[in-house]
Amino acid sequence: MKDVVVITGAAQGLGACIAKALLANGFRVAITDISEKDAVATAKRLSSGSGSDDNSGDVAGFKLDVIQKSDFEQTLAAVEAHFGQVNGLVNNAALTLTTPVMEVTAEEFDNVLNVNLRGTLFGCQVFGAYLAQKGYGRIVNIASLAGQNGGAAAGVHYSSSKGGILTMTKVFAGNLAANGVTVNAIAPGPMDLPIVHELVPPEKLEHLLENVIPVKALGSPDFVGGIVAQLMQRDAFGVTGATWDINGGLFMR
Ligand SMILES: NC(=O)c1ccc[n+]([C@@H]2O[C@H](COP(=O)([O-])OP(=O)(O)OC[C@H]3O[C@@H](n4cnc5c(N)ncnc54)[C@H](O)[C@@H]3O)[C@@H](O)[C@H]2O)c1
Repeated sequence: MKDVVVITGAAQGLGACIAKALLANGFRVAITDISEKDAVATAKRLSSGSGSDDNSGDVAGFKLDVIQKSDFEQTLAAVEAHFGQVNGLVNNAALTLTTPVMEVTAEEFDNVLNVNLRGTLFGCQVFGAYLAQKGYGRIVNIASLAGQNGGAAAGVHYSSSKGGILTMTKVFAGNLAANGVTVNAIAPGPMDLPIVHELVPPEKLEHLLENVIPVKALGSPDFVGGIVAQLMQRDAFGVTGATWDINGGLFMR
């Protein structure tokens, strides 16, 4: 039976690209998002295809607001009831804000940390416990280059939350390793996604591509999806607690 992976915040953007890559690599996928309608619509879009792209039966949409720990519990139960098993989680949902550092309010800081960092905590706790009890599982946390070098345009709340995810990944990796559950992070730089084109004005983007990003290109979300699929494989058992840098040479270590 094909392994089943749940993705948070997957109705659009990177999450939807990860879903597409997982389906192409033979996984079944639960698309989840804060809006059930959007999650179901994306699942429907990805399920329809022809020939080898026909994923009907392999993808379904569910509501999961990462602010609520109970949503993780309920959606885990619903996905297990739907597909008969759950084998992995991608913590992808995030709020991406670019508020200038001195203008971030306490409320905005809490909102971003609650979605990005506390949401990842709840995902690792609820799915980590379930997968550990089964003796097998894969968790991938989507962090960011901003969590490593502070970022160029990202808000202090966003960058801090992503730095926290990198540390949290190591804590859960150590905690779950003996139970067959791996936990890894991916730290992408700016990718060719709608949100980047919305947040970065065209002249600034041109400057970034010409003068700042060493490979002179935005990252490929489909490639990131492929890396998630690699980390979800059964033979990826030896990789845990790692951060996968996919940043066009913007940060080398
Ligand atoms: N776009 C980039 O270049 C880039 C770079 C580095 C990292 N990332 C990371 O990739 C991931 C996806 O980002 P994206 O660029 O696709 O952004 P996006 O804003 O297009 O997608 C984010 C998704 O998260 C969902 N979401 C927001 N709050 C939620 C909540 N409370 N519960 C459930 N879902 C919620 C949104 O509805 C949306 O579908 C994020 O973790 C982001 O930090 C993106």
